[in-house]
Amino acid sequence: MSRTESDRLNDDVSLLARVDALYDHPRDPFLYNSGADESMAAKHCLAYGEVTSPKRLFAALELTVHDCFYDLGSGRGQCVLAASLLESTMRPCKACGIELVRERHDAAVTALGVLRERQPVQAAACLLMCANALTFDLGDATKVFINNAVFSDETSGQFAGALAPAQTPKLERVATINELPSDACEAASLRLMAMTTVDGCWAPYGTTLFVYRRGRFAGGVSGSLSWRDETDVQVDAPAIERMLSARRFIATPRGGGRAGGTIGARLRAKLENTAHARSPATLASY
Ligand SMILES: C[S@@+](CC[C@H](N)C(=O)[O-])C[C@H]1O[C@@H](n2cnc3c(N)ncnc32)[C@H](O)[C@@H]1O
Repeated sequence: MSRTESDRLNDDVSLLARVDALYDHPRDPFLYNSGADESMAAKHCLAYGEVTSPKRLFAALELTVHDCFYDLGSGRGQCVLAASLLESTMRPCKACGIELVRERHDAAVTALGVLRERQPVQAAACLLMCANALTFDLGDATKVFINNAVFSDETSGQFAGALAPAQTPKLERVATINELPSDACEAASLRLMAMTTVDGCWAPYGTTLFVYRRGRFAGGVSGSLSWRDETDVQVDAPAIERMLSARRFIATPRGGGRAGGTIGARLRAKLENTAHARSPATLASY
């Protein structure tokens, strides 16, 4: 592991430790399912999992002090609180979490209360709402994160729909765990710009992160790249290769001992289609 990669890992470990210190409960995805309404909990989109490398996420979003950061489906609020705990040169001027499940939202509010007591300046920029992200006013959002790891394509499409230019005129970047459906991206004027990885409590060896930017509407400029042309997508090939390589050794029900088989094939195709793919020969083995 290069020095830079090890530094990035340490950055995340120390940020996450400061976030964890705000909570009474250890990180336990199941604990926070207990109070959810049964009919809601049964829906996949309400399943729970947390990103455990928030700094990598913020770096991919290129978070700055000028940003209004939104986590749509913020759970216990740990990404929002992590953004508030960034050093002053990177800390967004607003960090907002929208969460549908009351019990998770309440856990987030309690943690924010602790932050408010300990570090009122950092807490001041933080806003937590128990609401439906699909109908929330996102007018000031510049950078958005959606952990859609368990969303259906239809639900991911609905989230993309909530980011249409009319609703989010200031939007610059969106990061998602799973790729957004291309028709929904086109409708929302979102264009894939980068692929990298983050860690999650459900994916300690990493999971994909897709980064989108606001693009032109299809047909806006004659001769412009088509929406499906991904030759200018920046691919963090070392991170993706590391993830795929680690995943090969994990057994999962779907992968049947070659975990990530499906996602690996999709990523390989993407990587091979991008100008920045660095080692297609290595990827061919997945
Ligand atoms: C996988 S968790 C992500 C938690 C956190 N953002 C993270 O990545 O660490 C996804 C969350 O989205 C919430 N969610 C799903 N649909 C939602 C909606 N329409 N509005 C607000 N929250 C929603 C779920 O209840 C769940 O807590």
